[in-house]
Amino acid sequence: MKTRDVIVILDCGSQYTQLIARRIRELRVFSEILPWDAPVEEIRSRSPKGIVISGSPMSVTIPGAPTLPRDFLEIGVPILGICYGMQLLSFLLGGKVERAEAAEYGRAQVEVEDEGSPLFRDLPQRFCVWMSHGDSVAWLPPHVRVLAKSEGGLPAAIGVPEKRIWGLQFHPEVVHTTYGVEILKNFLFEICGCDPSWDLGDWVKEKVDEIAKTVGDGSVLSALSGGVDSTVAAVLTRRAIGDRLHCVFVNNGLLRLNEAESVLSVYRQELNLNVQYVDASEEFLTALQGITDPEGKRKAVGETFIRVFEREAKRIGRTEWLLQGTLYPDVIESGHRGRGASVIKTHHNVGGLPKDMKFKLLEPLRDLFKDEVRAIGAILGVPNTILRRHPFPGPGLAVRCLGEVTREKLELLRRADAIFLEELDSAGFYDKVWQAFCVLLPVKSVGVMGDERTYGHPVVLRAIESQDGMTADWAYLDRQLLDKVARRICNEVKGINRVVLDLTSKPPATIEWE
Ligand code: XMP
Repeated sequence: MKTRDVIVILDCGSQYTQLIARRIRELRVFSEILPWDAPVEEIRSRSPKGIVISGSPMSVTIPGAPTLPRDFLEIGVPILGICYGMQLLSFLLGGKVERAEAAEYGRAQVEVEDEGSPLFRDLPQRFCVWMSHGDSVAWLPPHVRVLAKSEGGLPAAIGVPEKRIWGLQFHPEVVHTTYGVEILKNFLFEICGCDPSWDLGDWVKEKVDEIAKTVGDGSVLSALSGGVDSTVAAVLTRRAIGDRLHCVFVNNGLLRLNEAESVLSVYRQELNLNVQYVDASEEFLTALQGITDPEGKRKAVGETFIRVFEREAKRIGRTEWLLQGTLYPDVIESGHRGRGASVIKTHHNVGGLPKDMKFKLLEPLRDLFKDEVRAIGAILGVPNTILRRHPFPGPGLAVRCLGEVTREKLELLRRADAIFLEELDSAGFYDKVWQAFCVLLPVKSVGVMGDERTYGHPVVLRAIESQDGMTADWAYLDRQLLDKVARRICNEVKGINRVVLDLTSKPPATIEWE
């Protein structure tokens, strides 16, 4: 691989750590997140051009809070502490951090005091920033300069220019900080001397060579789901090893309306993938019979998948490698397990594969964020129909068809869902929301159509906005759109006579109902 500049981000547990990494990559510098307690040798092994220390929900003054060894400051490359990161640097430089009399949260103004500082080059003297801290720097030794102050007179930026150590009390990675990108640019290019050369086109070429070399003359098995990650991973791998990639696409009978047919046609006709199609709907629906408990349904689907996949793998014959569409956020989360710094999401994707299948794992996307995977998909010619698809849970409609899953209820749900998505798309909302879908409730209510009394199922419309699925807010949809969706569903789907709207964020709810 050609050498590229790297910025290491030490994660002290902030909700914004991944955002810092993304912003830096958007500026075409590769960034890698390591946990705050990564040994100094591990950090050095990345040969970083600079280091960023993230924020944290903790307080520097509390025992057990993330910290760094004092010799960290001698690491010899520029360091930027953000929020907690600045407080930690102040503390390590001999300053005092205290609980602030008035915490600063949200939008605030800062005033630059040291206009010569490279961090604020070409910026106005006053600008808007995003603050989120309860502690603040109360005292600094004389060799640490205060570069900017907040309206409350607290240090908003600090620096020890001769040691190339810098700190920001606010969050430059958040869009509400007006000149956040400019500040990050100044850090990357003026201070660290990075070259903006991280390029996804080069990444594809390098990755294809790497896969070819890794797999040699072996062969690879892949389970395709129709989603972005597994598809992009497969198309990339196919480029490297051609028909030695064997794909399996299992129709579990829990897919959306016409999904199996349309996805399969894209795979075979447009992407030229070598796909074994398995219609196992019957087997899945039988396994789900009589189960109403959400976890029970997930388990039944997971176990059936393993059985079906194992059977197909045997049919294909010997393959040493198993391809998985693992992404960077999953890698970070597993890497941090046990370090106590960040919130851990149990990710549902993997885990479900047979233990006694002796595969070596091929995970070509493990460096990438979702939006980067989409961009790479576009470079590889993956059609937009797949790239723009909303996330879809592994257990499919089983977790959206509440109560016992039956063929009849799935049919109602599928048709209502298709109407919702079709209208959402034609109103221009599909790409604006993170996810939208229908949920069929296992109760019935009374209605009237024409002169007839009806007794049918209600369907719930769920549309949410999110950055990563870990937290979410309900999406504000146009009234006319909602009205049209509700009328069409009741008119066109016999068996549904009521449409309701889910107005719950995550937390307290989850995105899926089960
Ligand atoms: P929840 O419901 O936990 O969902 O708020 C968060 C995101 O994950 C998706 N999801 C899944 N994805 N397998 C998956 O690949 C699953 O079992 C699964 N369950 C939930 C969900 O659609 C949302 O985007």
